[in-house]
Amino acid sequence: MNKDLENEKRLAAVEAVRSVEDGMIIGLGTGSTANIAIREIGKLVAEGFRVTGVATSNATEELALSLEIPLKQLDDVDSIDLTIDGTDEFDADLNLIKGGGGALFREKMVARLSKREIIMADSTKRVEKLGAFRVPVEVVPIALVFAQKQIEKFGGKAELRLKNGETFVTDARNRILDADFGLIEDVRKISAALDSIEGVVCHGLFIDLADVVIMASGSKTETFEKPRV
Ligand code: A5P
Repeated sequence: MNKDLENEKRLAAVEAVRSVEDGMIIGLGTGSTANIAIREIGKLVAEGFRVTGVATSNATEELALSLEIPLKQLDDVDSIDLTIDGTDEFDADLNLIKGGGGALFREKMVARLSKREIIMADSTKRVEKLGAFRVPVEVVPIALVFAQKQIEKFGGKAELRLKNGETFVTDARNRILDADFGLIEDVRKISAALDSIEGVVCHGLFIDLADVVIMASGSKTETFEKPRV
């Protein structure tokens, strides 16, 4: 990874972890930026902080356990105090596209249970309109062709995600279609359309789920708060 980008991810992650307080239940995101934050949380635990993590993927669970961060499963908590996660894109309304790493399903459930969701971003993630990054859509295997055709009806073009030439399989043993809608004018409309497709388990449009985005740009961080309505 480009050094400058790596540094931005680090800056955003360190800033986000400043919000972690002793005793909190923390949602642990997935991806390269989340990994930096998890390592920082690991340092806090080593210093004596009593936090409990809820992982958003098997990879995150493994990393957290290696750092001796105590974990609980999603089903074992009623709510999460704070979640710290990354993103693939964010817009001025703090709507997101997530799922580049394939962990969107658990990431969205964890976000829904969270009292506060802090998103960390490097400067490449900020966009005027979401959609240059294709929307990941997690689909149960038997519905793949059906979902692909439905996405086409809604104006998208969906491609099966591969990894190293093989079909990508999610933690929940599903598949991912990466859906290209071009730059999205109406995110709520596309989100509702995707939600209406039988066999779609989850999609990567995260609307009204982020409370704060911390974006690093060069050597500075900028914090965007969700506008109060
Ligand atoms: C994981 O599925 C994603 O939602 C990640 O949070 C997103 O892809 C950001 O990843 P990076 O922090 O690696 O850019």
